[in-house]
Amino acid sequence: DTNNIVVVGSCMVDFVSYATRLPKPGETIHGKEFVTNFGGKGANQCVAAAKLGGKTFLITRVGDDIWGPKYIANLKAQNVNTAFVRSTENSSTGIAQITVADSGENQIVIIAGANSKLCTKDVELAQELVTNARVLVVQLETSQEVAIRAMQLCRGITILNGAPAVSEFYPQLLKLPTIFCVNESEASIFTGLPVNDISEAEVAAEHLLSKGCNSVLLTLGEKGAFYMDKNEKFHVTSPSVACKDSTGAGDAFIGALAYLLANKPGVPMQQAVEKACVAAADSVTRPGTQISFPDKSIFQDL
Ligand code: RIB
Ligand code: NA
Repeated sequence: DTNNIVVVGSCMVDFVSYATRLPKPGETIHGKEFVTNFGGKGANQCVAAAKLGGKTFLITRVGDDIWGPKYIANLKAQNVNTAFVRSTENSSTGIAQITVADSGENQIVIIAGANSKLCTKDVELAQELVTNARVLVVQLETSQEVAIRAMQLCRGITILNGAPAVSEFYPQLLKLPTIFCVNESEASIFTGLPVNDISEAEVAAEHLLSKGCNSVLLTLGEKGAFYMDKNEKFHVTSPSVACKDSTGAGDAFIGALAYLLANKPGVPMQQAVEKACVAAADSVTRPGTQISFPDKSIFQDL
């Protein structure tokens, strides 16, 4: 198929506590509510694209605990192809401990579990799929080697979401992706530069291009996104919304972008980025990650 979206990366079960505010170091506070959700950046991005109508495949690993089969069932229910989801012996499924404050801010600790066993061999087992993907999406909750191998194989558009950020990395991490996409704090870790506003974002983007990126896309939270390649640069704003839970907003953005690049190839980059901001903004108005992502109706006009 020509418009496949292939995501290689993590899946995590999110243990989410909602509290009035985030605790300070060493502090214990009463929270308000506890829920478990299906999350993890790789799976979130894949489900975001699937909910918009994308034909999606996820290459990931779950553990041999109670969560593994539940996670696979969730992916199937979301129309994600799970042929390359492997169960891993003696491993726990990835877990994320998340606290969400009334302000919508969050704090996350992840235990990668089975995700840390995802290897280049897993990517090679899906070689044909990865090679022929229209859009490939990778992140860094699984190893850099996995992301690099997948991008080397793919002949289509490749998106690296450099999250969580790393300060030491293979040069190919910048050179291979068609689009290198990070948020402000991640851009700062990758470049060693401050990234707090749009003008600093532009300087960071220039730095990343000088290090070999083909194009750089910086997500700026409620300030929208900034894009730069050797031919064009633009800043798009995001619709302003009441933020309930910003967890996974970046994943909604990446998934929407992947969907648009795969399924609406005529749409110019600036419009695709604008629309991806619309999807991300919509997702923060509802709690959770995958369960909060918009469906097809949000792109009706395209
Ligand atoms: O990007 C949001 C995701 O990050 C959460 O779903 C959590 O699992 C962490 O991986
Ligand atoms: Na949300």
